[in-house]
Amino acid sequence: MDILTSKANGILAIEFNRPDKKNAITAAMYQAMADALKEAESDTAVRAILITGKPEIFTAGNDLEDFLKNPPQGMSSPVYQFMWHLSHAAKPVVAAVSGMAVGIGTTLLMHCDLVYAADNAKFSMPFTQLGLCPEFSSSMLLPQIAGYQRAAEKLMLGEAFTAEEAREIGLVNKVLPLDQVVVFAQAQAAKLAALPASSIRAVKRLMKGHQTAAIEAKMTEEMKYFSEMLSAPEAQEAFNAFFQKRRPDFGKFF
Ligand code: COA
Repeated sequence: MDILTSKANGILAIEFNRPDKKNAITAAMYQAMADALKEAESDTAVRAILITGKPEIFTAGNDLEDFLKNPPQGMSSPVYQFMWHLSHAAKPVVAAVSGMAVGIGTTLLMHCDLVYAADNAKFSMPFTQLGLCPEFSSSMLLPQIAGYQRAAEKLMLGEAFTAEEAREIGLVNKVLPLDQVVVFAQAQAAKLAALPASSIRAVKRLMKGHQTAAIEAKMTEEMKYFSEMLSAPEAQEAFNAFFQKRRPDFGKFF
C-alpha cells in the first residue's frame, strides 16, 4: 500500500509509503487520500488528521511518469479531489515533514493547520523549473503566509529551502530533531482531539471560512494554466530530462 491510513484515539493518520520512488504521488495515492479525508468528515470517531511521510522523505511530489501518462483532468481528477477535501476539511489537520517536500508536498502544507518539520526537512516548489505554474491556491496562500517577495522567490526560482527558513517565513510552526517530529505532531493532534470538537471546528471556520470562495476560484484559475502548461513542450522537456538524468534545455522555447 503506497498510502497507509489508520485510526486510533480520535486521530486519522495518513502516511506516504512509497519510499523506493521517494513517496512520489500517483493518481491512485491521491484517490486513497481523498477517500480517507472524505470519510473522516462524517466519522465522529475522527477528531483530528495527521499527515506524515518517511524519515528520509516526505514526498517528491507528483509522480512525473503518472503526470505524463495520466495528466489530471479537471475537478474530477484524484489530485483535485484530494486537495479539495484537504482545503475544505472542517477537522484540524496536522502535518509532520521530514526529508524533502517537493511540489504538492509543500503546497498541501498551506492547507494544514499545524505544520512541524524535522531539522532534515527541505521544501521546494520547482514549478517554473518544470515549465509549470503554482497549483492549489499556493499562488494566493504563500504570499499571505510569507509576504509577496518571499513567496515570489520561492515560487519563481523554485529552489529548495530549509526547515528553519520555512519556520521563519511562517510555513512551519516549529522545527524539531528528526527522531522527535512525528511523536510531537502526534501529541499535538492528540491535544486537538481531546478538546471540544465543536470549538476546534468553530476556530477553523472563523479563521478560514471567509477565504473558501477565493481559494476555490484561485484553484480553478491555476488549474487552467497548469493543464495547458502540462502538455506544452517546456514541461515535456523537463520531465524527459528528469528521467534521462540530464539538465533540461529550455533555451529553444520562448
Ligand atoms: N516522479 C516519479 N518518480 C520519481 C519522482 C517523481 N516525482 N521523484 C523520484 N522518483 C523516482 C526516481 O525516478 C528514482 O526511480 P528509479 O530508482 O527507478 O530510477 C527514485 O524515485 C529515486 O529518486 P532519485 O532521484 O534517484 O532520488 P534522490 O535522492 O537522488 O533525489 C529528489 C530525490 C526528490 C530530489 C529527486 O528524486 C527529485 O527531484 N524528484 C522529482 C521532484 C519533482 O520534480 N516533483 C514534481 C514536482 S511538481
